[in-house]
Amino acid sequence: MLLDRINGLGSIFLVIVFIIGMSFQTIDAQPKNVNSSGQFKGHKGVAILSNRWDNGLAKTPPMGWNSWNHFGCDINENIIKETADAMVESGMKEAGYKYIVIDDCWMDDHRDSNGRLTNDPKRFPHGIKWLADYVHKKGLKLGIYSSAGTKTCQGLPASLDHEKTDAETFAKWGIDYIKYDNCYNQGRPLEERYTAMHNALKSVNRSIVFSICEWGRQNPWEWAPKLGNLWRTTGDIRDSWRSMVTILDQQVGLYKYAGPGHWNDPDMLEVGNGGMTNTEYRAHFSLWAILDAPLMAGNDLRHMSAATKDILTNKEVIAVNQDPAGNQGRKVTDNGNQEVWAKKMSDGSVAVVLLNRGDDGAFMTTNSQTVGLPQASEYRMRDLWRHDDSSTEDLIRSYVPSHGVAMFRVWTK
Ligand code: GLA
Repeated sequence: MLLDRINGLGSIFLVIVFIIGMSFQTIDAQPKNVNSSGQFKGHKGVAILSNRWDNGLAKTPPMGWNSWNHFGCDINENIIKETADAMVESGMKEAGYKYIVIDDCWMDDHRDSNGRLTNDPKRFPHGIKWLADYVHKKGLKLGIYSSAGTKTCQGLPASLDHEKTDAETFAKWGIDYIKYDNCYNQGRPLEERYTAMHNALKSVNRSIVFSICEWGRQNPWEWAPKLGNLWRTTGDIRDSWRSMVTILDQQVGLYKYAGPGHWNDPDMLEVGNGGMTNTEYRAHFSLWAILDAPLMAGNDLRHMSAATKDILTNKEVIAVNQDPAGNQGRKVTDNGNQEVWAKKMSDGSVAVVLLNRGDDGAFMTTNSQTVGLPQASEYRMRDLWRHDDSSTEDLIRSYVPSHGVAMFRVWTK
C-alpha cells in the first residue's frame, strides 16, 4: 500500500517535472536568454537542454557574399575568384565577411555517371574543389547552393533523395556553407526533406553551415533551429525600398527564436545594387544589423562605390550585429512612419535605430526607458554613422531623413 502510494506520488512528481521542463522548452512561452557559453536559459535563469542543433558554427550571424542578388544565373569561376580577391582588397574580410556563396546555376544540367552533382564545365572549367582551394588560401570560406527538391529553382539537378551523396560531394570539395532551397519539392513534407539533408551533413566529416531557404512558408523559426543555423523568414528580397520594408514588417516578433548558432534570415543584402539611394541602403544595413540578420552582401564587390564600401564596412554597425549574446533587436515603438528598434548588447549598452519611413525628414525622439536602458543620471550616446559621441540625461533624439535612419549605441555613464 505504502509502496503503491510512494509510486503514485513519484509518478505525479515526474509528471510535474516533465511539465515544468516542457514549459522551459516552449520557445515562444517567454523571451529567451542566452548565457555566455551559448546555452539557452529559462526565465528563472536556469540553463535548459534545448532542442537545437549545435554544430559549433555561426555563433554570430554569418557574414559574407552571395552571387544571386546581383548576378542571378550569370555566374562563372572568374566572378567568384575576383569576388574573393575584392573581399580581401576592399577591407570587407577585415570587417568580418568570410563566406563566398555560389547560389543557383553552378551545376551541370545532369548528374555524372556515378550519380554525383558536377559543375557546369563551361562556367566553372577548373571545378569547385579548385575554387574552394583558392578561396581558402585567401582565408575565406566557400558556400554552395542546392534545393530540397528534384530541381533547383532554375531547373537544374538538386538534392532531394540524393542528400547523402551530395553532402559527401560538398565535403570532398571543401564546402563550408550550404544554402538549401525549396523548389521542385514534389509536395513532400518540409521537415522530412530538410531533416534528410541535416542528417547527411551530420554524417560527413566536415563542418558545414546549414542555411535553410524555405521562404518562411511554414513557420521555420519553430522547426528549423533543430536542423540548421539560419532560416529564411520571407520570400525573395528585391532591390527596392518597398521590398525591404515589407520584409522588415515580417520580422516583428521573431526575435525570440534567434540566438548563437540560430538566426532568422530576412534574405541577403541589396546594398550597392542601384535600386535604392545610399540613405535607404544605410537604413537597410542598420536594420539588418539590429535584426541579427546574416550580413550577406549581394552586390558586385569588384566595382563598388566608396559610399557602398563605407556602408558595408561600417565596423560600429557590424559590431551591433556580431555581439556575442545574440539578442536580436526588436521594435519598441511604432507611430506609423516612425519606428524605434532596440537591441540589448552584452556589455549592458543598447543599440537603437530610429527609422523614418515617411516622405519628409523629421526629428525623432525616444528615451532611455523605452529602449530598455537602466535608470541613470546620464548616458553616453555614440552615433554609429556619424562616428561621434554626445551625452544625454534621457532623450535619444535626432534628425532622420526621409527613408533613412539614425543609429546609436547608448551606455549608462
Ligand atoms: C529562390 C531563392 C533565392 C535564390 C533563387 C535561385 O528564389 O529564394 O534566394 O536562391 O531561388 O534560383
